[in-house]
Amino acid sequence: MLNINNLSKVYKLKGKLIEAVKKFNLDVYPGSVYCFLGPNGAGKTTTIKMLCGLVAPATGEIVYNSTNIVKDNREFLTKIGVVLEGARNVHWRLTPFENVEYFRRLHGLNRDINYISEWINLVGLDKYKDTQCRFLSRGNQQKVAIACALSLNADVLLLDEPTLGLDMEISRQMMELIIKEKNKNKIIIITTHDPEFIERTADKIIIFKKGKVFKFDEPNKIIEKYGTEDKRFSSAYINLIRTLND
Ligand SMILES: Nc1ncnc2c1ncn2[C@@H]1O[C@H](COP(=O)(O)OP(=O)(O)OP(=O)(O)O)[C@@H](O)[C@H]1O
Ligand SMILES: [Mg+2]
Repeated sequence: MLNINNLSKVYKLKGKLIEAVKKFNLDVYPGSVYCFLGPNGAGKTTTIKMLCGLVAPATGEIVYNSTNIVKDNREFLTKIGVVLEGARNVHWRLTPFENVEYFRRLHGLNRDINYISEWINLVGLDKYKDTQCRFLSRGNQQKVAIACALSLNADVLLLDEPTLGLDMEISRQMMELIIKEKNKNKIIIITTHDPEFIERTADKIIIFKKGKVFKFDEPNKIIEKYGTEDKRFSSAYINLIRTLND
């Protein structure tokens, strides 16, 4: 279990203070997909970055297996698979195969050519497995990032907009992979703006508004409150985002 208590982050930009995350609390249990949603700039990525140690919190603690990982995350870093937003997840001069191998080695895992090839195949990159990542399209680079994160068989997955830039087919495959990981009792936190992704994978929804949790609920509760006749999460979510942007 992962306990996030009173987590805050303040950035300083050109002399101005920006409260990106304000006193965030959440208990994350294994075996469910937690989706961070909300408008641009609401604090989702900042929270993910605090979880994986890339941004130092201003206040608060994150506890994993009785260790406050804000103070000591050495063990935790060996347990996580991460996809960050943007295009800098993979090493540009390495091929997809070499990237997966590299990240597995960092986690102390063996080379296992067959296993790595399976992952390259699973994300549809067979054709490009020997091409340096800098020559791949944005979406294909994203697939490499996903293969790197998921092939670690990590206990905790932190995925910031994992389906960004993916075509529909691979995006759907990605959803299936997430559900498989969930069924292996992993801790999974995902940020996304993709309603179909949420509809198919999310068990718990955490909606951020200006750095605060605006709502924490199950998808069907959100449909009950904000939904339209079609009873789809995507319609409810559009209504909800409208109220947040007002
Ligand atoms: N390095 C930084 N320096 C200063 N301010 C930052 C920095 N990174 C983020 N911010 C600010 O912190 C706030 C939260 O940003 P964050 O990237 O966490 O939002 P987000 O919810 O992930 O948005 P999006 O949906 O657009 O990805 C925003 O106001 C943003 O401008
Ligand atoms: Mg973001």
